[in-house]
Amino acid sequence: MSESRDWPRPMRRPRRLRRSEAIRRLVQETHLTPDRLILPQFVLDGSDREEPIGAMPGRSRLSIDRTINECKKAISLGVRSFALFPVIDASLKTPEAREAVNPENLLCRAVRSIKEAYPESCLVTDVALDPYSSLGHDGLVKNGRVVNDETVEVLAEMAVVQARAGADIVAPSDMMDGRVGAIRWALDEAGFQDVAILSYTAKYASSFYGPFREALGSAPVDAPDIPKDKKTYQMNPANAREAEIEAMLDEAEGADMLMVKPGLPYLDIIARLRGMTSLPIAAYQVSGEYAMIKAAAQNGWLDERACMSEALTALARAGADVILTYAALDYAGWWREGLS
Ligand code: PBG
Repeated sequence: MSESRDWPRPMRRPRRLRRSEAIRRLVQETHLTPDRLILPQFVLDGSDREEPIGAMPGRSRLSIDRTINECKKAISLGVRSFALFPVIDASLKTPEAREAVNPENLLCRAVRSIKEAYPESCLVTDVALDPYSSLGHDGLVKNGRVVNDETVEVLAEMAVVQARAGADIVAPSDMMDGRVGAIRWALDEAGFQDVAILSYTAKYASSFYGPFREALGSAPVDAPDIPKDKKTYQMNPANAREAEIEAMLDEAEGADMLMVKPGLPYLDIIARLRGMTSLPIAAYQVSGEYAMIKAAAQNGWLDERACMSEALTALARAGADVILTYAALDYAGWWREGLS
């Protein structure tokens, strides 16, 4: 019986606050609401088109009209923010990626149409050359190198074109040095003081972007004198302190929000940046993270709803205010039904 025990009984019993669902919910520290989510969407030219993405079950490339339907669904579930990625026809891709600054390009047309249908939506546009480059790089390639300052000039022009189309937030995902400052300057000069910059601050040279590159057909091409990967501009996955340098620079250059990407394998980076800036932090649950959970769930190996919710909540717990996820609609639906 109890008299025979010689070890001290604990005074503090954390399990008291885990006894019932009601108590657990009272003391739950992190609540991820759908209004903190951004749904990335892949936009196709033409109308009434849908092409499922093999490595991203449940997600498709959609023509603008169908993208608008998807926005409608999302808005009814409380997700009002969208990140748009255009699927550019191969015939429009060139080494200089000039289509990126064409005010009539697919992305600009999509922004204008969605804004017309849903002026209250928040549209985030990606600033990087890869969807438009026949070489599949985020910047211009010269003599076998991705050149920095010439690329930044194009990116600044691109951001202004996107702002003019109606983007609320421009999101440079290219990792060139000095691009945030140049984009801020160009936007202000063009009268877009109110367009915000969400900088991909700590974007790693990750292999989890595979399904995204399949969706856009945007992987670096295999050709002589073209870098085979993005390691000279995206960060080394083994580095953490370097993310602080990127964050310091982006904040100084005028970024309004900082992003960490990918998400789940980089929770320490989210937490680090949370500790050093007061700016909002975004985390991107990238295509490969989404694909892993979806694939395992399809095999019956994981509970999709429970695992996706856990992964997304973990990003918020680590310090992300805003989360980009392809599962935004799923999550918002579960939220409505009452997450447990
Ligand atoms: C391109 C870009 C990429 C992603 C977002 N913007 C791919 C890359 O850098 O190669 C990846 C997103 C994802 O995997 O979901 N600048």
